This record gives sequence, structure tokens and C-alpha cells, in this order.
Amino acid sequence: MKTLKPIILSLALLILGCKDSKKDGENSSTANIPVSREMVAELTAPPHVPTPVGSRKAKKLIVNMEILEEEGELTNGVRYNYWTFGGSVPGSFIRTRVGDEVEFTLSNHPDNKLPHNIDLHAVTGPGGGAESSFVAPGHEKTFSFKTLNPGLYVYHCATAPVGMHIANGMYGLILVEPEGGLPPVDKEYYVMQGDFYTKGKNGERGLQPFDMQKAVDENADYVVFNGSVGALTGDNALTAKVGETVRLYIGNGGPNLVSSFHVIGEIFDKVYVEGGDLINENIQTTLVPAGGAAIVEFRVDVPGSLVLVDHSIFRAFNKGALGILKVEGEEDKKIYSGEIREGIYLPEGPGIQNMPTTDEIAESDIPAKSFEEQMEFGKQIYMQNCFACHQSEGQGIPNAFPPLAKSDYLNADVNRAISAVVNGLSGEITVNGEKYNSVMTRQMISSEEVANVLTYVYNSWGNSKKEVTKKMVDDVKNKK
Ligand code: CU
Repeated sequence: MKTLKPIILSLALLILGCKDSKKDGENSSTANIPVSREMVAELTAPPHVPTPVGSRKAKKLIVNMEILEEEGELTNGVRYNYWTFGGSVPGSFIRTRVGDEVEFTLSNHPDNKLPHNIDLHAVTGPGGGAESSFVAPGHEKTFSFKTLNPGLYVYHCATAPVGMHIANGMYGLILVEPEGGLPPVDKEYYVMQGDFYTKGKNGERGLQPFDMQKAVDENADYVVFNGSVGALTGDNALTAKVGETVRLYIGNGGPNLVSSFHVIGEIFDKVYVEGGDLINENIQTTLVPAGGAAIVEFRVDVPGSLVLVDHSIFRAFNKGALGILKVEGEEDKKIYSGEIREGIYLPEGPGIQNMPTTDEIAESDIPAKSFEEQMEFGKQIYMQNCFACHQSEGQGIPNAFPPLAKSDYLNADVNRAISAVVNGLSGEITVNGEKYNSVMTRQMISSEEVANVLTYVYNSWGNSKKEVTKKMVDDVKNKK
């Protein structure tokens, strides 16, 4: 045994030594990886990612990216002129492996108004490709680069004014997998944060132009995942099954804000810090810099809706940086009991819940002109004010917040429902046979908005299809 020890030690040193020297020379060694044949890259729109590289050899990889300037919806009723790589924000996901020779063709659609280019952070070369790819509408440019360093990288337009091109949506992710690929997982998704600056304030309807001064001041009206409010909620929610391992490729296009990326109700088993080789474990929140990325992985153990947020939390609940990962499967009471909440603890009394008087709340500039508009505006108010407790389908949260879907309590008395929104509601109530004892605070919204949101609620999720008018709301207010 004694004689073996020094041998083992020197073997270990030899191995360590080899590893170090390989690290030092990584660029020169990966630059020499031979490529065999060529293939056209699969590009995907978010939240999807292309097929993993697996064990494939390095290739000449043809990437054809088209720039499209097109109008889209930033949130309900708010339009925005997006500039995109591949027609989506973020742009198409590009998946490569180390040693690939990427032949990149950037085409600027003839209907576009402006020249653009691309700076890929995965490129070793001047401007990350920007200098070789500057292209006018109706033209295309081709350049080529070899992927020397594995990792998850941001790409973006770098045409002046750079901040404006990025703010309009010109960013995306390119993944360079290591030799042999990343370890397989059950689900992979592409999520990228961005901040938006509009002439009108958050929620102001119509086509909103970009606001340069707000962007310079870093005063974002919207902070969103995947280009718009609600891109990852409702029918667009990400999905997984209990027991699966989920990998999220998280990017941050900025242009300004650093993301404190967090998933409510989960702990990241692994984080590839800043998208590089370093793996950290058991992480609650990871910083994703503007122009940076991270890969996070976690196994989902219990069913429910996990909430993706920027934990600079007003961005999540007031500016849009919120997404849902819906997990289905068997409960595991050992991991999470779903304990019943017994009562309300209000050490300072209900006075702390007080909000400004309803007289101080201004009526909206643009009243709804039809039932359809009431539904549309109402949904918007619901997503801003009610969604966190009552949930996207009005299902509520068991033992905490009552459901609004098929709610006997709601459908029985419209004036009581109006009063709950206008004056708040506390104390025990019974909804669909279940007792709830929580506090709903008075909502700081105008009579018009109360009418819209209640009309939306009454005409959704199997409710009684009542239409609520501003007059009905004012009548309840005046009875007080
Ligand atoms: Cu551009």
C-alpha cells in the first residue's frame, strides 16, 4: 500500500497537468477540429430549440437568417414595430457544436426600411461578424466563422443606433455544444428577456413608437420574456411532467436591464453560470447580464404552475416579466403537502390594506365602445390586477384564493361582486362549497375598468355572461 501512494499521487498530478494544458490551448485545439461534409442548420422560433447535436462530427453548418421588420402585439391592444432575426423576438435559436464552420448568410428583406447586421458573441473576430454582415434592405451578406468555445451566446444587431436596434427586438441565442453534446434532458426551452420603451405609458393602447429618451434613461415600460407580455402564459405556457428534467436556455437581450432570473416554486439543480463551463448547484436566482445568458436545469417533482420571473419583482407583476411552466402529474405530499391555511394574521389591523380613495382614481381616456372592447380591456386589467391570486383561468389557489371560474358566489350577486372589487372583501365566504378566509384589497381602478374586468370575468370560464356597466359600478359606489 505504502509504495502505491506516490504512484497514485503522481498519476493524479499527471492527469491534472494534462487537463490544465488542454484548457490553456483550447482555442488552438478546437480551431484544428476537422469538419466533414456540410448541413443546413435547423433554426427554431422561441420557446423551441433545435435537435441536440449529440455525437455528430463537426461540420460546415449553413445558417440562413432573414431579417424582418414587422408589426406585432406587445400586450393586449398595444402594437409595436418589431425588428427581428427570423420573424420572432427573440430571433431564431441557432444550435452548433464546437469545431463547426458556420457559413452565415444574413438576408435583409426588401420590404424592410433599414440596414442591419449581426454581432454573434460566439464569434472570434472583429465585431463578432458585424463588420462583415452590414446589409441594406433587399441584399444579403455571407461570412464564415469557426466555433472555438463551447457555451450559450447572445447575438444581436450592432447597427447604429445599436441600443435602438436591440430595443426593437434584434437579439437571440446561439448555442455551441461541447464535443459529444450536452447531457440529454427531457425538456428544453428557449426563453429570452428584453426591455421595451414606448412613447405611451404601460398599457396605453394603439401602435406605440420606440421612445429614445426613456431608453437612454433606462426607464422601461415593459420587461418581458420572448418579446411580449403573455408570451409564456395561458395557452403559451411551457409544459413538463412530474419527474422530468427541464433545461432552460435563458438569454437577456437587454438593451439595458440585468435579469434576476428565478422560477417561483423551484430550485435550479444546475446553473451553467453565464452560459459557460462553470456549473453551480442548488441555486434560487441567477443573474443574467444584458448581452449574456445562462443555462438552468431542474427536475420537476410536484405538479403545479411554476412561475418564471425577473425577481426585480415589479418587472414581473407590473411590466410583464412573467412566464408559466405548467407541470402535470402525481402529487407527492412528502415533498409538498399543500397545507391548509387556517386564518388571517393582521397585526396592524386591516387598516394597512387601505388604498387611495376611489375619487382619486381617474377614469380611463379611452372607454370601451363595444362588448368586444370591454372583454379585451377587461382581460388586460385582469392580467395586471387579479391574475396573481385568481390565476389565468380563474381557477384560484386552493385554500387561499377562491376560484372565479364557475363561481356560485360570483354568479349569485353582481352588486356584491362589484363591491368586492371597489371596497375590498375580507372574512369567511363559501365558494362552490369550499370555505375561504382571506383578504382581497380594494382595487385601485376606475369605475370603467371595474366594469370591464367584471364583464370579462362574467363572460369567461363558464360564468353567467353578465355585462357590467360603469353605471352599475357607480351605483354601488354611491350606495356606500
Ligand atoms: Cu438592426
